[in-house]
Amino acid sequence: MDFKKELNDRINYIEEIINNNLIDENSKKDDLQYQIYEAMNYSVMSGGKRLRPMLLLETSRLFGGADEDTFPFMTAIELIHTYSLVHDDLEAMDNDEYRRGKKTTHAVYGEAMGVLCGDALLNYAFEIGLDGIKKASDKNLAIDSLSILSEKAGVFGMIGGQVVDIKNDGKKIDINTLDYINELKTGALIEAAMTMGATLAGASKEEITLVNECASMIGQAFQIQDDILDVTSTTEVLGKPVLSDEKNNKSTYVNLLGIEEAGNKVEELSNHAIERLKSLGRENEFLFILIEKLINRNK
Ligand code: IPE
Ligand code: IPE
Ligand code: MG
Ligand code: MG
Ligand code: MG
Repeated sequence: MDFKKELNDRINYIEEIINNNLIDENSKKDDLQYQIYEAMNYSVMSGGKRLRPMLLLETSRLFGGADEDTFPFMTAIELIHTYSLVHDDLEAMDNDEYRRGKKTTHAVYGEAMGVLCGDALLNYAFEIGLDGIKKASDKNLAIDSLSILSEKAGVFGMIGGQVVDIKNDGKKIDINTLDYINELKTGALIEAAMTMGATLAGASKEEITLVNECASMIGQAFQIQDDILDVTSTTEVLGKPVLSDEKNNKSTYVNLLGIEEAGNKVEELSNHAIERLKSLGRENEFLFILIEKLINRNK
């Protein structure tokens, strides 16, 4: 398989779907709140990896689901992920000025609009998700899917993780607390992506539980690799500032255990996830390679 080509094809496919679901700012230039559409589109359509919608789509495909059923939910999860980044970059949080190769939303539109843009993306995700339920061929599966997203994005998921992360700025925490933070702040949305895909495709309860376990490992590996890149990469490659964790006195796998141990952990978690996922006896070569490629990703 030409993985690079397959990956780019999927990114284009996903971006077209997201774009179709966004507010067309040009047709609303007379609205007094026009700037919020601009800020939303600025932050979303700016070259992220689209990993969460991709995992949602590919997990649905793993279980033989129809692509169309995933469209609103792929958009919803990317909007929520993007809002989490817009808020994560605010002065009150990580205070970063670059994201996805461009100035952060608050740097361009100001802090108030940065806050409101995050709020707007979060709300719009549910507007799109609920519209998706109205149009779904199987409404119950669509409701289950949006319900997963709402929980995993909230205080028992991503927001909860961000809270514990922020509360521990400047403190040396133990590995268990760090695992807890990573599992929630990053693992939860990866879990949402994959279990939503499985749910929409009609996977069984047992299969969804297994997918959730794998996604949790993939999410944790993803965050540890993010922490590694924060010290080993460059702003040009990452599209966001390096050494942000040091600036904010964050405990990470890198400063608790060292880069080598951290890298081993990424590999171990990812390989375990692939092995577990393959134990389902279902085929999706692209998905398996994607998870493997994330181990040594450079952005
Ligand atoms: C960044 O996520 C935040 C983390 C959870 C580490 P991504 O690395 O997926 O960011 P984009 O979407 O590609 O910009
Ligand atoms: C934040 O982790 C993960 C989110 C839930 C947004 P980081 O703060 O390490 O993410 P980056 O490095 O800014 O993308
Ligand atoms: Mg952060
Ligand atoms: Mg950050
Ligand atoms: Mg980071």
